[in-house]
Amino acid sequence: MRHDILLWGATGYTGQLVAAYLARQEGVGRALSWALAGRDAAKLAAVRDTLATIDPAASALPLLLADAGDDASMRALAAQARVVITTVGPYARHGAGLVAACVAEGTGYVDLTGEPTFVHRMIAAHHEAARARGVHIVHACGFDSVPSDLGCLLVQERALARWGEVLPDVTLYVRKVRGAFSGGTVASMAELLAEASRDRDAARALGDPYSLGGSGPPVSDTEGPAWDAAEGVWTAPFLMAPTNAKIVRRSAGLLGYAPFRYTERQSFPTGAVGWAAASAVAVGLGAGVAALRAPWLRQLLVDNVLPKAGSGPTPAERAAGFFETHTVGRGPDGRWVRVTVRGDKDPGYGATSGMIAESALALLRAPVAEGAGVVTPAVALGTGLVPRLARAGVTFEVVEN
Ligand SMILES: NC(=O)c1ccc[n+]([C@@H]2O[C@H](COP(=O)([O-])OP(=O)(O)OC[C@H]3O[C@@H](n4cnc5c(N)ncnc54)[C@H](OP(=O)(O)O)[C@@H]3O)[C@@H](O)[C@H]2O)c1
Repeated sequence: MRHDILLWGATGYTGQLVAAYLARQEGVGRALSWALAGRDAAKLAAVRDTLATIDPAASALPLLLADAGDDASMRALAAQARVVITTVGPYARHGAGLVAACVAEGTGYVDLTGEPTFVHRMIAAHHEAARARGVHIVHACGFDSVPSDLGCLLVQERALARWGEVLPDVTLYVRKVRGAFSGGTVASMAELLAEASRDRDAARALGDPYSLGGSGPPVSDTEGPAWDAAEGVWTAPFLMAPTNAKIVRRSAGLLGYAPFRYTERQSFPTGAVGWAAASAVAVGLGAGVAALRAPWLRQLLVDNVLPKAGSGPTPAERAAGFFETHTVGRGPDGRWVRVTVRGDKDPGYGATSGMIAESALALLRAPVAEGAGVVTPAVALGTGLVPRLARAGVTFEVVEN
């Protein structure tokens, strides 16, 4: 018998938050069968003990052992679930075996990858087979890239309903954001830049805005500080734009919305203070990426300065976090649609743990046959995910002129 949901990586920083989210959802433990998986039996048992303090029924959760380096254990894992949630990263290092196993076993899959190089490889290796078998391999089900992907989907669905055509220019503005990084996220960013510096295909997958699909005019995801006259704000590059924008463009290509221009920017108020803030963010981001690209400096930072694997923001830091993004589609004759997405916890972990759990529950309960393949949240789950995300403190508001 297959478990409805299997969480692999349950012992990690984010995995434990996802497990706690599932344990807190009334009905998950009773109406659904779920299980925890990892590579260390003692650590898994300790996580289960903690979950039992949230929901006593969790003390009976089955524990499964599976190591990324062991293909047979990946296959066994996939064979025992209807949907697998994986929080085992960096995905470029540990993720490929599970994707292959899920396609082979006909198992739904959701992850938190922010590594376009990994997604690029999985599309090349498995998209056609997954589509033919009706299997959903859904990447990027966290802050990267659910608000981006569903925000743009809502803009274009509204535009199609109202004007019969998609809007040709869509920009996501990150208006407010407070949060911090976990060790696993830092390791994944470092791995991404290391992979791109040693492998030409990976460098292209990271550098080409349309490497995951979709089409549109030439566009940069890393442009320096700039004045945005349409929005009346100063903008700076957004750290996750090179990942999120590629996911959104893939969705647009698969859903038939492309071509159109899509970008993501961090935004700051008008005036000298806004200009200074945008400039400081651009310089800081450039310096951070340059540091992580240099192998010796990357090692120095990862070993001595940045958070370690298994660690991340404290509960107080997560609770004090939030985000607000505005996705604005603009068209001829002054037409526009604006989708505001708000999160009431830190984006990377408090909000993300709920987003991936809800994505898995949505995939389990409402499989959409035509959205199969190596795909995105918008393609596999569509706007049906929006009301579910309110349970995770992530809300969407649509306004149009
Ligand atoms: N997209 C987003 O918005 C978003 C948000 C949050 C996190 N993430 C991503 O999620 C991933 C996890 O981050 P994290 O901070 O939770 O990392 P973490 O705390 O280091 O957890 C990593 C997990 O992977 C497991 N693992 C490592 N090597 C393994 C192997 N060979 N076989 C089986 N399991 C293995 C670890 O098991 P042990 O406990 O036994 O070491 C642990 O459970 C990262 O890639 C990160 O970038 C993305």
